[in-house]
Formats: sequence, structure tokens, C-alpha cells
Amino acid sequence: MNRYIFIAFLILPHLGPQPWAQATLAEAGSKAGIHIGIATNSFNVTGNNAAYQTVAKSQFDMVVCENEMKFQPSEPSRGKFSYQGGDKVYDFAKANGMAMRGHNFLWHSQSGWAQTYNGSRTEMLSIMKTHIDSVGGHFKTKILEWDVLNEITSDGGGGLRNSFWQTRIGDDYPDSAFVYSHQVIGGNGFLYYNDYGAEGLNAKSNSIYALAKRLKAAKIPIDGIGLQCHLSKGLNAKDISANIKRLGELGLRVSMTEIDIKNGTSQDWTNLMGACLENFNCVSFVTWGLDDAISWLGSGCDCLLYDGQLKPKPHVQALIDALAKADPAVAEQRKKFAAGGGTISIAFRRQAANRPPSGGILGASPAPEFSIGPGAAIDALGRAHAVRAPLWPGISPLPAPTAVPGN
Ligand code: XIL
Repeated sequence: MNRYIFIAFLILPHLGPQPWAQATLAEAGSKAGIHIGIATNSFNVTGNNAAYQTVAKSQFDMVVCENEMKFQPSEPSRGKFSYQGGDKVYDFAKANGMAMRGHNFLWHSQSGWAQTYNGSRTEMLSIMKTHIDSVGGHFKTKILEWDVLNEITSDGGGGLRNSFWQTRIGDDYPDSAFVYSHQVIGGNGFLYYNDYGAEGLNAKSNSIYALAKRLKAAKIPIDGIGLQCHLSKGLNAKDISANIKRLGELGLRVSMTEIDIKNGTSQDWTNLMGACLENFNCVSFVTWGLDDAISWLGSGCDCLLYDGQLKPKPHVQALIDALAKADPAVAEQRKKFAAGGGTISIAFRRQAANRPPSGGILGASPAPEFSIGPGAAIDALGRAHAVRAPLWPGISPLPAPTAVPGN
């Protein structure tokens, strides 16, 4: 053996982890089957912002618009749509091989003209459908996870929040929202209900669980629950894990969608990741911003993974280490369940959606073009669409009307 190679063999094992062997957050997440993402804005990813963009694209593999795809920015006046912000963020995602979340179709806030529009149930349903058709139609091949509904449960639990959607349409408006979304998005993306303060076990998460259970039983096409995770130091990860588990028992994906931890320690961050890692149905881990300088909680907060100078906090390495220790069996199960959990491309999901229904079940007998990765096609398509089978093709878009006072 060449003398230098021999010496290298002797020295290398003592140098500790090699710099070239260091995984990024995204790589470590991908091994565990979990997308690791950030909320961002088009001006962050297009401007003269190289330092930010370098961290974003090298460490993360998922993005979501912090504001630009909400109702008001995307439909600033009735029937007039604007997709520019989302398009720019998508271009960044595509150029860097990142998946994208869509946030959100319906919310009580940032909804502009619709918030004060006093339409009848029928007219509000039509406004809802037009919005979902247009925004969903524009982005449908680009988005992996859609927040169809945002923050619709009242804080103390016990049912729906009295939003303008709820008071004008009625308590079945979630049903219509998911059905309309499914009609336009089909198998292109997963349909979520996203909320805060319902991460662990409490009255609000019980209420959300009951709603999800009702929707699943009624064959309404809901795929997942988003746990926003606006949390603080000392968070209770055990409770969060238990909540994710029970949602998994309903067949639902869970994504942590808007994470920030006020004054969070590395232990808090890894505890939260642990709650995700323990559950095969937890598929995405997204922080609400990249760094403390531009957090919605105010610049200077200590709440994200990078400080105001874009320096990684120790939490980053702690998360990479935690991901590296993921139980391979759970990771395997997650990848099969998730159909997009880091191994299956969006293009693959696009192909899936373009397939015609076969015997009422889309993708029931996978064609060869779906064979990407061992077992992926069957798990991805069989599961995702079998649950929706009764909805094809004669889907009924409007649930039975309920009496709404004043309509
Ligand atoms: C926040 C944005 O971060 C702010 O820039 C904006 O002014 C208000 O909305 N829950 C959500 C997010 O679902 O859309 C919110 O985003 C934060 C709370």
C-alpha cells in the first residue's frame, strides 16, 4: 500500500466527524422521511440576499409563503387573482429541489374584502369555491401540502370558531372546503386543517380530533392536521406525541407547520422533533421563518434556529443528531405512509393526479411509471386514494344545507 494512504488510514479515525460527512438538516430529515422547512417571502428569496438564500436552500427542503398565498394577497378584489408572490417562492423551491406547502385557502384573518362581505350561504359557498378553484388550480402541481383551513376551532375547544365563514355558511363549511379542494387538486397534494394551541392533549385538540373523525367517517377528503407549534421553552413533547399518535390512528398525516419556540433550548427543539420522530405519520417540520431578525414575533426574539446574523444556534446540530438517531423502522414506515416524505418527487405526485380514475379508485392498479422507489407506488397511491374512492366520480359538492340564522 502507498505510504501516504497507509498514514491516512491511521490518522483519519482519530479526527472525529469529517466536515465533508456532515449532514444538513434537510439531508438528515430526508433519511428520517421528514421534510424540514421554513416560512419565507418572495422578497427573501429573490432579493439581494445571498446569505439568507444560501442557508435556506442548503439546510431546508420545504418552503411555505408566510403571507403571500393567503386570501387577501391572492384575491385582493373579488374574482381578481394574484399569484406573483407564490410563483416566486415556488421558483426558488423548484430551482433548489424543495417541496412547498400552500398556506392557506380559508382563514378568519387576512381575508380582505371577503371578511366584510355579507353574502348568503349559497353566495359564500360560491366565493369559497371560486377562490379554491383559482388559487388551487394555479398552484396544484406545485404544492405538496395545502392548508385548506386555518384556525377554525375556538380556543377553548367545543366546536368551530365564529368566523365569517362559519356564521355565513354554517358548521358544515369545512366539508365543502375539503370537497372543493379535492375536486381541483385531486391527487396532486395533501389537504390539511392547520391550527395553533392544539399541539398537545387539551380541549381544543379534542375538538379538532372529533372534527377530523367526523370528516373521515363522512369520507370528506382530509389528509392531515397541521400543528402550528408556536411554543415556548419547557414545551410538553409527550403530550404532543400522544396527540400525533391518535391522529395517526385516524389515518391522518401530521405536519408541524409554523414552529417557533420562545427562548427554546436545544433540548426543547429536540424534544419537539422527538414527538415527530416517534410517530410514523409526522411528516414535516417547518419553522415560521429562518432567523430571529425577521420573525413575526419581533426581531430580536430568541425563537428560531438561526440568530439575527444567520448564525446557526446549537439547536441545528442537535436536530441533525436527533434525526440521525431516528429509528429506521419508523422512518421506513413513515416514508411509505407519506408519499412525499422526502423520497418521492412532486413530479411523481403530478403523474399520479393525471391518471384517470380506474374503477372509481385513482391509482388502484399502479402503472409502471409509478414505480419510483421500492414499494412507493402502492403505498403512496393505494392509501391516498383508496380512502377517497367513494368521492369518484359522482362527488356531491354541497353538503346538505344547514339552517343558518339570518339567511
Ligand atoms: C402571520 C405572519 O407571520 C405575519 O407576517 C402576518 O402579519 C400575520 O400572520 N398563524 C398563521 C400564520 O397561520 O399565517 C400567521 O402568520 C401566524 C399565526
